[in-house]
Amino acid sequence: MKYVVIALLSSLLSAGVAAPAFSQDAAPGQRLFQQRCGACHQIATPRNGVGPHLQGVVGRAAGTVEGFRYSAALRDSGVNWTPETLETFLGNPAAMVRGTRMTQRFNNAEERRAIIEFLGSQ
Ligand code: HEC
Repeated sequence: MKYVVIALLSSLLSAGVAAPAFSQDAAPGQRLFQQRCGACHQIATPRNGVGPHLQGVVGRAAGTVEGFRYSAALRDSGVNWTPETLETFLGNPAAMVRGTRMTQRFNNAEERRAIIEFLGSQ
């Protein structure tokens, strides 16, 4: 499914059509992801921005996206992204990975849960 979406997006992009926005009635986690993370992270396409793309992030080793310049702190952290480590990281990134360039804390536990669920579905 993911690959179908990518293929669709890339054909739209190569046709010069803007990528469609997430639909209004998307799952809460998807909307929250767009609002809280979307300025820095892409997930529908494996493209890096201010932050690395988050496609397939659950199950990924930290600091391993090709072509993204990570902080040494995150690259050498030895963290593996699971729902549990993501929960800790999002609550206070710098406390978990001292020296990371992602410093924003996400204090709402309900929102974190919804976002992590969404990340796991991508
Ligand atoms: C202001 C920009 C910004 C926002 C907003 C942001 N991040 Fe990040 N994020 C970054 C940067 C920059 C990095 C790379 C940090 C480093 O190299 O130390 C990063 C790294 C990450 C990583 C590690 C990825 C990897 O490949 O190891 C995860 C997971 C992550 N962010 C999740 C999120 C989620 C989920 C949200 C929203 C709740 C979010 N981020 C919001 C900038 C941001």
